[in-house]
Amino acid sequence: MTALTLLRRSVTAVSCHAHAHAHAHAPVRGTNWRCLPQLQRRQLHLHVSGRHAAALLASKTTAASAAAAAQAPNAHANVGDSVTAYRTMSSVAPKLVAVAESRRFMIDCFKAVKVPQAHAEAQADLLVAADHRGHFSHGMNRLEMYINDLAINSTDGAAVPKILKETPATAWVDGLNGLGAVVGNYCMDLAIQKAKTVGVGWVCAKGSNHYGMAGWYAIRAMEQGLVGMSMTNTSPLMAPTRAKEAALGTNPLSLGANANNGDKFLLDMATTAVAVGKIEIQRRKGAPLPDGWAQDPSGAVTNDAELGFSTGCLMPLGGSELTSGYKGYGLGAMVDILTGVMSGANYSTQVRKWTHAGANSAADLGQVFIAVDPNCFAPNFEERMSDFNSRLRGATPTDPSKPVLLAGDKEKNGMADVDAAGGIQYLENQLKTCASLAEKLKIKPLSFV
Ligand SMILES: NC(=O)c1ccc[n+]([C@@H]2O[C@H](COP(=O)([O-])OP(=O)(O)OC[C@H]3O[C@@H](n4cnc5c(N)ncnc54)[C@H](O)[C@@H]3O)[C@@H](O)[C@H]2O)c1
Repeated sequence: MTALTLLRRSVTAVSCHAHAHAHAHAPVRGTNWRCLPQLQRRQLHLHVSGRHAAALLASKTTAASAAAAAQAPNAHANVGDSVTAYRTMSSVAPKLVAVAESRRFMIDCFKAVKVPQAHAEAQADLLVAADHRGHFSHGMNRLEMYINDLAINSTDGAAVPKILKETPATAWVDGLNGLGAVVGNYCMDLAIQKAKTVGVGWVCAKGSNHYGMAGWYAIRAMEQGLVGMSMTNTSPLMAPTRAKEAALGTNPLSLGANANNGDKFLLDMATTAVAVGKIEIQRRKGAPLPDGWAQDPSGAVTNDAELGFSTGCLMPLGGSELTSGYKGYGLGAMVDILTGVMSGANYSTQVRKWTHAGANSAADLGQVFIAVDPNCFAPNFEERMSDFNSRLRGATPTDPSKPVLLAGDKEKNGMADVDAAGGIQYLENQLKTCASLAEKLKIKPLSFV
């Protein structure tokens, strides 16, 4: 029996396991889910600050907190309190996975479901970069979903995108249902080539799949000295202002611009107020939701975490109409117009639901990749960016212990922490999912530092 057959047979089992595991991304009415970036970054920040610190903290865990930890449904249950969050983890020193080992494992998984080497590497590079940067929701956490989609052929791991229409500055690409990173890298590289030739490259893709961190593609342009932007549409999860049902996805956007000496501005964000995982955390804590996060079935803002979770209607960035949520709604719609509508892909409620068991239809997501040569405009862009960045970072903080940050700073700090610790610390249940995948796909399990 091939690994693929085994995997197909076990999709349900894997799915059930996944739902039980510690990621607070259980499907909400079968919708796409975004997970727990903030908590996981908190955990990362705590956990990767060194094994000594970890062991010390663990040894200080009281019997009472250990008992509470044992009863906690999972490590995500305590997002509001980083120390408690730490205590919910194992009392042994954290197991770290080297970045290279995480990448190796993901490549092996993709190859086991017949993804060609180059495509497996592209997808693994994207996912491991997300974990490295602290965006765990879009790293290894997504691996199982991609594998399940590949196993049931709702994504074509071997597909190579093709250009449908082209001008010197633009291209319309069909991703042919290929892997998101394969389509995304292809399109951004095309945009970069055009920007280097005519100053700007604007590439729209249809027929794509979930492409992970929007910032990954902006970084690709920045590495070539260009300003990069990217956006994607996603499965419906955001209720438009005044609506009681979801009609837009979490539709992320990114913009990256270089400053001098390796400094940069890198905005990479969803257009919903919070990820669905943050609602799940409040629910597990038995805590109320702040205003502006989620709606109940009637469309009213709810503070009831249980109800917000089961309804599955996230509010746009900004929250309710009173707090200008219509601006987040507008941004999410803008993303869908520039991606789904402009590329001829699915958009709004046309986009499928996405679950751990894989989807029974092609996603046909729309995406856009823009590269701009800043030298086409005023000279010395990077110098001015450095000045710009320092003016923002230099603003007097309200709390002196919390310096003003720039978009991209948290992720940069997260990477430095991982590098200093020598590896990524995945949540225990993520590691269980990996062990289960290794067994099913008959590949070498993850090893630890
Ligand atoms: N492909 C998809 O379907 C999809 C959907 C949604 C999100 N995502 C990805 O998920 C990841 C997480 O998205 P998110 O919206 O939860 O990110 P987030 O809320 O953690 O961060 C959003 C942005 O705000 C910046 N930021 C954070 N704290 C800051 C502070 N104090 N001061 C200044 N800037 C600050 C970050 O650097 C980042 O650029 C992103 O990589 C995004 O592209 C992907």
